Amino acid sequence: MTNELRLGIAGLGTVGSGVLRILRDNAELIAARSGRRITPVAVSARDRSRDRGVNLDGLAWEDDPTALARRPDIDLFIEVMGGHEGAARASTEAALAAGKDVVSANKALLAHHGQALALAAESAGRVIRFEAAVAGGIPVIKALTEGLAANRITRVMGVMNGTCNYILTRMEETGQGYNVLFEECARLGYLEADPNLDVGGIDAGHKLSLLSAIAFGTQVDFANVEIEGITAITLDDIRHAGDMGFRIKLLGVAQMTGRGLEQRMSPCLVPAGSPLGQLQGGTNMVVLEGDAVGQIVLRGPGAGSGPTASAVMADVIDIARGIRLPTFGQPAATLRAARAARAAVAAPYYLRLSLQDKPGALAKVARVLGDAGISIDRMRQYGHDDTAAPVLIVTHKCTRTTLDEAIAGLAGTGVVEGPPVALRIEAV
Ligand code: NAP
Ligand code: HSE
Repeated sequence: MTNELRLGIAGLGTVGSGVLRILRDNAELIAARSGRRITPVAVSARDRSRDRGVNLDGLAWEDDPTALARRPDIDLFIEVMGGHEGAARASTEAALAAGKDVVSANKALLAHHGQALALAAESAGRVIRFEAAVAGGIPVIKALTEGLAANRITRVMGVMNGTCNYILTRMEETGQGYNVLFEECARLGYLEADPNLDVGGIDAGHKLSLLSAIAFGTQVDFANVEIEGITAITLDDIRHAGDMGFRIKLLGVAQMTGRGLEQRMSPCLVPAGSPLGQLQGGTNMVVLEGDAVGQIVLRGPGAGSGPTASAVMADVIDIARGIRLPTFGQPAATLRAARAARAAVAAPYYLRLSLQDKPGALAKVARVLGDAGISIDRMRQYGHDDTAAPVLIVTHKCTRTTLDEAIAGLAGTGVVEGPPVALRIEAV
């Protein structure tokens, strides 16, 4: 076996140590499948003294990941540090400039700089691949880029943040509130270094923007992903949704509409019996719809050392095999700038209000909604001990813009306490 592929690995945390473990445990089958031996040569992390649970003997150490990226004895640079600026960005750019191929698990970096990095890779004659960046171990980039390459993609949907799905699922299972389960996630080590990336929907928004680029042939447009996190979801919302046959999921939806590209990452109600509604715990699910294939559903572990390293190594093996695909499935120069369509597609909404329990209060709310052209499908007032009553309204289809205008109008009625919660009911 000739022509060894030599790796430099920047980052030896959850993902980087997982990559070294796979390379150690499955070296023979990887070499057989690649037709080449794939060998880690040099690594970088911040703390050289830390025990990584993997043997680093024989590997060169670089304190500076950019120096690692430029080493003449590596062919491929693996960036598994994280962060969309700083060391991750500098070392990735340096690797491409030095003529190395790159494999990254870093959704933030690709979401912010994907187009520039794709152009840089192509002008250097190199590739940059990122299967691990979206939905961990699920081979969704491969499915979109290769398996569905002949399809006009009509919609991409998914639950792509395991932490949020874990919190929402556990709220329903245990009856514990958001704050308790957030603390549980912190104890279990599920949260990103900045937890707002998870619960604020940003991490999942990064992932959706990458899938959109491939699905619709557009430049990554993370800035126009409409993002809403799960922090406002209460146990009552989960119970009320359940009463109506729905579950709440942090759901990403990207679709090309007549008005442009719609990208949303927000808590939505989905039918409890649907595949997305049944997704439990930290698992991810991505639903892809194409004109020829119809709908396919991919489900699996969205995070963790083994699953994420599995996806990193799939990219490495492709490169070892000589498979050199453009970053987003077509040459970067041919990707169109996306025209963003914010909240273009109408849907029914779940609206939860805290309404003062006095004569005429409900009528005032109905008037504001009616004046905005929003028709009420269902309405329910729950029993209460307080002076304010929890009221649930399910609207007929309306746009988010219209709903937001109506919500602004509700503040002027003098009978609605606090900000209402509005959740889209998604047809999945
Ligand atoms: P992690 O456990 O926090 O590990 C990060 C590693 O990067 C650490 O080894 C750290 O060094 C090293 N590092 C950070 N800044 C550095 C710098 N300036 N110079 C050199 N080394 C530096 O992170 P992770 O969970 O493995 O995630 C890595 C990447 O994969 C991120 O982009 C993440 O979003 C992505 N990802 C992770 C998962 C997952 O399940 N964890 C899933 C999908 C994608 P020290 O160890 O010395 O501090
Ligand atoms: N924080 C992410 C999640 C890790 O919870 O899904 C994988 O990207």
